[in-house]
Amino acid sequence: RIAYVNGAFVPVAEARVSIFDRGFLFGDAIYEVTAVLDGKLIDSALHTARLQRSTNEIGIRMSVSPDQIGEIQKALVERNALVEGLIYLQMTRGVEERDFLFSDDLDPTLVMFTQSKKLIDSPALKAGLAVKSVEDMRWARRDIKSTCLLPQILAKRIAKDAGCQEAWMIEDGVVTEGASSTAYIVMADGSIVTRANSNKTLPGCTRLALLQLAQETGVCVEERPFSLEEALGATEAGMTSASNFVLPVTMIDGQPVGNGTPGPVMQRLRELYIEHAR
Ligand code: PDD
Repeated sequence: RIAYVNGAFVPVAEARVSIFDRGFLFGDAIYEVTAVLDGKLIDSALHTARLQRSTNEIGIRMSVSPDQIGEIQKALVERNALVEGLIYLQMTRGVEERDFLFSDDLDPTLVMFTQSKKLIDSPALKAGLAVKSVEDMRWARRDIKSTCLLPQILAKRIAKDAGCQEAWMIEDGVVTEGASSTAYIVMADGSIVTRANSNKTLPGCTRLALLQLAQETGVCVEERPFSLEEALGATEAGMTSASNFVLPVTMIDGQPVGNGTPGPVMQRLRELYIEHAR
């Protein structure tokens, strides 16, 4: 496997960053995960735009343009002959002697690697995902895609221990989002509900693309929060992320959503998204 590190393509075993890298020491870094299908990057422009926004919000000066990042990612996919999977990208503030205060003239560290993954024949498709609710313990700027992921790491561990594949994070009585995905429910009339973008959630790239596809095909979208109780009474539930596209959620805290099997609306949305990706 070949990785990209600060301008060079190197075998993964030789890829190195400094122990003084602020990403390593402080989690002072931004990341993006982009899907690759049939060797093509999916929604690449949305991901590079979000990277630019996140880095800008915390004052990391991007040393390469979003277009250049897209080009590097294409080259990395080719070098790894990746057909289906993910590209992970991380940009840190850079390297300097450990100090909470950062210098303004740092060169950001930029690292990328590929991971192959079955996105189309997802094992979760047949039964749908079981999710576990956990308290949302994250900071107030979840719109920034920072690598500080301890709350999500612990939430996913709690979910796994409960036999679930994802955690839904709860705050003020409503679902904020999944630990690494956007959350949805489907109403009896076939409309879909997902939370509006704000500082409380990560603005999902898959969400953005999917909501547009939904609107184009006459599926009504309501952007508002929903509670666990409402989700349990919904006809269907689902999630989106670059690493899963669109998946049905069929169980919440051990209780079935609707009839407990993947429903037509989420399945149709998944087909629409995959058509768009291809
Ligand atoms: N996670 N919400 C959170 C908290 C996320 O971490 C993610 C993505 C999403 C979905 O965003 P998108 O559709 O742009 O992938 C929502 C990635 C996949 C990860 O952390 O691996």
